[in-house]
Amino acid sequence: MMNKLEMVKGFLHGGDYNPDQWLKRPDILQQDYQLMDQAHINTVTVGVFAWARLEPQEGVYDFDWLDEVFDKMNQRNGHVILATPSGARPRWMSQKYPEVNRVDSDGRRHTHGFRHNHCYSSPIYREKVREINTRLAERYGNNPALVLWHVSNEYSGECYCPLCQFNWRKWVKHKYQTLDALNDAWCMSVWSGLYSDWSQILPPSLLGDSKVHGMDLDWHQFVTDMTVDFFNQEIQPLKKLTPNIPVTTNFMAESLKEGQYTPLTGLDYGKFAKSLDIISWDSYPSWHNRYETTAETAMKTAYVHDQFWSLKQKPFLVMESTPSCVNWGQYNKAKQPGMHRLSSFQQIAHGSDSTLYFQIRQAQGNSEKYHGAVIGHDGKSDSRVFKDVQQYGQELQKIAEIKGASKHVRVAILFDWDSNWALNRGGGFGRPTRLGIQTLQKHYADFWKRDIACDIITSTMDFSKYDLLIAPMMYMVTPDMLARIQRFVEHGGTLVSSYFSGMVDSNDRVNLGGWPQSLQDVFGVEPQELDTLLPGEHYHVKFNQREYETTDYDQVLKANDAQVLGIYSDNFYAKTPAITKHQYGKGTAYYIGARLSSTFIQDFYDGIVQDLHLENQFVRHSNPVVSIQTRYKGAYAYHFVMNFSETEQEVEMQRASVDMLTNRSIAKQVRLGKYDVMVLKEKRRDMLD
Ligand code: GLA
Ligand code: ZN
Repeated sequence: MMNKLEMVKGFLHGGDYNPDQWLKRPDILQQDYQLMDQAHINTVTVGVFAWARLEPQEGVYDFDWLDEVFDKMNQRNGHVILATPSGARPRWMSQKYPEVNRVDSDGRRHTHGFRHNHCYSSPIYREKVREINTRLAERYGNNPALVLWHVSNEYSGECYCPLCQFNWRKWVKHKYQTLDALNDAWCMSVWSGLYSDWSQILPPSLLGDSKVHGMDLDWHQFVTDMTVDFFNQEIQPLKKLTPNIPVTTNFMAESLKEGQYTPLTGLDYGKFAKSLDIISWDSYPSWHNRYETTAETAMKTAYVHDQFWSLKQKPFLVMESTPSCVNWGQYNKAKQPGMHRLSSFQQIAHGSDSTLYFQIRQAQGNSEKYHGAVIGHDGKSDSRVFKDVQQYGQELQKIAEIKGASKHVRVAILFDWDSNWALNRGGGFGRPTRLGIQTLQKHYADFWKRDIACDIITSTMDFSKYDLLIAPMMYMVTPDMLARIQRFVEHGGTLVSSYFSGMVDSNDRVNLGGWPQSLQDVFGVEPQELDTLLPGEHYHVKFNQREYETTDYDQVLKANDAQVLGIYSDNFYAKTPAITKHQYGKGTAYYIGARLSSTFIQDFYDGIVQDLHLENQFVRHSNPVVSIQTRYKGAYAYHFVMNFSETEQEVEMQRASVDMLTNRSIAKQVRLGKYDVMVLKEKRRDMLD
């Protein structure tokens, strides 16, 4: 049976709405709905941080204002995404039950304030959450407007309180059973760290154990497990009382450094995703920055969309995005004309069934008063931002039939949270040059420019449906994963991997005796040494009669029965293999020994794309700054064609088609102005006869 959200026709357009901040201004609340109608908004997310309004005193509830939101949305056949309020708690609770407040890694108990900072072990907090969630589900569960539960908000962070320490000890004991096994797993003979009693187990901390890599890895897993456990408990009353209303929580991306934009690495979303009915995430790319082109920002944003798509390989939601600017950056630049439309259609192109904003009305005060919103402080409908949203809302209605459409993907990139944690934790080599995710993005970028769709999957997902599996820097390997990779190639898959692969086991201990045998079998090579290059130091690799510069890492390889495609030109490994290819079973495994430029990546994949016939079947000549992404539904293919550049661009298609946004017939030669988008519809080729 379809759930309530699946039954919604057309895309969700709207977002976070905080009438709880405006209860003394009925005039403003009234105006909100008029403006929402004008902006073609059909969805509001309410109650995200409204606990103090919903339960102003312990056990005293006030739902009147929320009833009003539901009434208003029902009057206009709109949808409500109802949040559980655990992302921020009322002040009375922290005062009466201090255990609900987090303790940091230095052992300091935090006072009330801020948000996203509850202790996820606290039985009292869990009980309070259960109570309020039960009341919300009882009151609104059957309300026609309710389509989705937005559980809490942006789960993140850690707690080191005595309750969490107790749970950590329990978790460790459960995983290792004996102290002997634990001491082995974490290699505790080093620096006299052996545990002689379970009570000695504390969380990692700068005041104590700060360098035990195996412990750090387990701590990351524990934090994910505790967060997911809390989430699972949060949804119990929702699942019981409203089985037909799906649950989600808004995942995050992080942009810690300039030019970095990836899904959050603090929690294992691969694991977390299993508890969600639908994936949703908050998308805040830095458009118009100074350190990269618009196409590069677009590519990184596309990567994040695709990774969130891949968690379930089903449509996801963009739960938040800004109609103009954010307020938390150093410099908070507004989107230029055309960028709102382009970046929003990009969400849909990659598999989102919504464009939702933070937020509908801009706050008057407190920390986010300058964050972009659909309705600004002027309350006007003729502002540029409002009109952008309005126009986009109207256009979204023209492509309503695409909601729920799927994707068809033949290339997967491998990303494991565990492996990434371990890779970044280990000492040695070049500390700032690990760049695991950036390396994945470099490979992804090549496919993005070719308009070939990619999934980004974890190693526990099914590989068999892909033709090409790209797994550079596959640092941590487990026996199960190795067996599945081996099977994938044996049965005809093509695998690409690189330096920094197969180095540690699931406890972040180095694999002894060189590479696991299965990797040697699949690749037909044996890694000998991993040479770290200094900044500015480069050597060379000869491949296909061309020479390419290496950066950061050169791995010395011994080819057993692999074919050598590229060799090093210099340094002590001159004339030794750098790039290899190996036929294994019915498949092929490529190994790239050194970190090489994007030009190399492009030349390297040219051959593979041809061999596997991966080319986009709709595009004759790709344009690297025009991205084409396709969704499929029934007998139709919908190609989103997006110009991520500041100048007019051309791209050549195989066939003429129709642009759903303008209803115009489009010749094979497509011209798009700055930031322009088309949605080209055609009958699916594979369904024509
Ligand atoms: C996050 C939060 C929102 C809001 C926005 C601002 O995504 O979930 O509540 O603070 O950031 O960008
Ligand atoms: Zn705690």
